[in-house]
Amino acid sequence: MVEGFGRWRRRASYDHPHLDLPMEPMEPMEKVSLASKFAAFSDHWSPKIVGELNGQHVKLVKFVGEFVWHHHDDEDEMFLVHRGQFRMELRDRTIDLRAGDFLIVPRGVEHRPVADAEVEVMLFEPAGTLNTGNVQGERTVAEPARL
Ligand code: NI
Repeated sequence: MVEGFGRWRRRASYDHPHLDLPMEPMEPMEKVSLASKFAAFSDHWSPKIVGELNGQHVKLVKFVGEFVWHHHDDEDEMFLVHRGQFRMELRDRTIDLRAGDFLIVPRGVEHRPVADAEVEVMLFEPAGTLNTGNVQGERTVAEPARL
């Protein structure tokens, strides 16, 4: 059992797992309703952070239309469809995704999500991953909000 379980925990370090790092406050463990979280925002192409584990962020995003072509030099990116459907355009093919499907886009692979109607998607990727990857522009969200 972790000392102070429920209040403090040992800080994790992904770069230096052998270091004895100081304790940090622990978030209370609570279930998350995807329906409630998705109901809490309506803007498009603006991912919201709803969870964090092991240096990864769980994000929710709604979108419709075409995104920008981009890739991520260092991050693999997972897309899980919660409601609706969209297609992930790759340079050599297109992958159709509907509710219940997920896709992992490996680092370095150019991709562009496109949705004919609004879709709700969960993203799973390392904290700090930029939504537009190597391309900075009006769609770039440098610091996603937390819900
Ligand atoms: Ni991406």
